[in-house]
Amino acid sequence: MSTLKKIGVFTSGGDAPGMNAAIRGVVRTALFQNIQVVGIHNGYQGLLSESFEPCHLGSVANIIQRGGTFLKTGRCSEFLKPEARLTAAENLKRQGVEGLVCIGGDGSFAGASALYKEQKIPVVGVPGTIDNDIFGTDYTIGFDTAVNTAVEAVDRIRDTAASHDRLFIVEVMGRNSGFLALEVGLAVGAEEVFIPEIQVSVDHAIEHIKKGLQRGKGSSILIAAEGQKPGRAYDLAESIRKKSGFESKVCILGHIQRGGAPSAKDRNTASQMGAAAVNALIQGQSDLFIGLKNDRLITCSLSGSVDKKKQPYPDQIKLIQMLSM
Ligand code: F6P
Repeated sequence: MSTLKKIGVFTSGGDAPGMNAAIRGVVRTALFQNIQVVGIHNGYQGLLSESFEPCHLGSVANIIQRGGTFLKTGRCSEFLKPEARLTAAENLKRQGVEGLVCIGGDGSFAGASALYKEQKIPVVGVPGTIDNDIFGTDYTIGFDTAVNTAVEAVDRIRDTAASHDRLFIVEVMGRNSGFLALEVGLAVGAEEVFIPEIQVSVDHAIEHIKKGLQRGKGSSILIAAEGQKPGRAYDLAESIRKKSGFESKVCILGHIQRGGAPSAKDRNTASQMGAAAVNALIQGQSDLFIGLKNDRLITCSLSGSVDKKKQPYPDQIKLIQMLSM
């Protein structure tokens, strides 16, 4: 029997499909163990403003299939300051909250790790981001849904590309990581994928397009990860035009990739991770997050993941190039 009486759960950073399923997993697992749960609104902002709502079984009814996060989310630069983390700890103690589940990406995990280190608030993370870029886990909730959303969009674009013999550059999200771009690129049969981690030259892409033209292929799809800021695909298009004269159409998928009903994979992974996070807190564990390795749940160090960069496999780019020759 657990000695924990009350825990809190919040979502932080960019929303990701499956976050609601993860909250449901946390709330229902805790209630099953007679542990009270408070939902914290708007990520770290809600910890600071004490925006807490008691969660009961009905609070998480009918949300497993919904995108976004009913607790709302946000990025909170104030939480970078130690004073803010002290305020959060005081608020949690006043409310009798003895442990936290943080559902979010790498920035959210950095905040959670600092809160544990400085204030000794037990925290367990659940990785939720469409970027799939958290070091230590093969998978983050939302990735599968976002990939499928982007693939569906690119398939539509390919109809136009083929009908008009056009070159398209489709930009996907992912910030500084190229996991989304690689997964989408392979699934849509892209001619080339540009990601921040591994350099592919524009010249190489042009050669690739020319070879396609020689064998009568009139259209091409290039996938570009957004990188530091959205709009990078326009620079690529200009660079290709200057070097080869090829005109391209640019499509930036943007936030369309973040919304929508989570896939079965995201709902199930989120449910399992949410439940595992509560069990970890019950066992007195902290400063860790629930990850996935070879399709099995694992625990990973929170502080050990922060500031480390998960790297994509260069072989995936080579495979994409080879298969679209
Ligand atoms: O981290 C998730 C993500 O969707 C990134 O892929 C993207 O760069 C960023 O969030 C966009 O953030 P915002 O919605 O705050 O503009």
